[in-house]
Amino acid sequence: MRKLYLATRNAGKVREFQQLLAGSNFEPVRFDGYAEPEEGSASYAENAALKARALAEQLRTAGIAGAVLGDDSGLEVAALGGRPGVLSARYGGPSATWASRRTQLLAEIAASGSADRRARFVCALAYIYTGGSRLSVEEHVDGVIGERVRGAEGFGYDPLFVYEPAGRTFAELPEEEKNNVSHRGRAVRTLLERITIELPRNA
Ligand code: IMP
Repeated sequence: MRKLYLATRNAGKVREFQQLLAGSNFEPVRFDGYAEPEEGSASYAENAALKARALAEQLRTAGIAGAVLGDDSGLEVAALGGRPGVLSARYGGPSATWASRRTQLLAEIAASGSADRRARFVCALAYIYTGGSRLSVEEHVDGVIGERVRGAEGFGYDPLFVYEPAGRTFAELPEEEKNNVSHRGRAVRTLLERITIELPRNA
């Protein structure tokens, strides 16, 4: 089993990674001293790489060798021209709560006058191994923004994100069902395939 250090402080993401990596050769672990770098606004891929590089450096300083996974994700809403996108975690300002972000998003969509409810979750992953190997992947899942929040599972924008084939929000789906179709689930599966195919053993 190879330890995979997760460059995130988000408990919801950690839980999903643990489930998504169960049965793989990786054991996802947190590094208690992880200090998250300031995110940019250019792209998910850049932010994922930024987080992975920061954690790799922090592990090296602590004398720990291990593989690192950086994640950056966001919600793109068609009626808002793709916002909040890479700025999803910062939507609503520094004092916003999850409930207030969701309320604000619904209000902004209503104020836009658009009847377009389409949205997508995007997830970029950056993998770094001690030896220097790097891989990055990006995946997404399409959905629509519901008229109101529904469900108590998941985290973040999940109660607003309706996955149409299931007719339910991500917060109404059991975690395993969300992981089967979500942006993060797809990205993890693509990454694991590429690690197997493209990287030499232990690289
Ligand atoms: P970041 O990846 O830490 O920059 O955060 C991305 C933002 O999008 C956070 O506010 C997350 O809560 C939100 N987000 C990302 N993935 C999901 C998800 O699967 N469900 C709900 N919200 C998500």
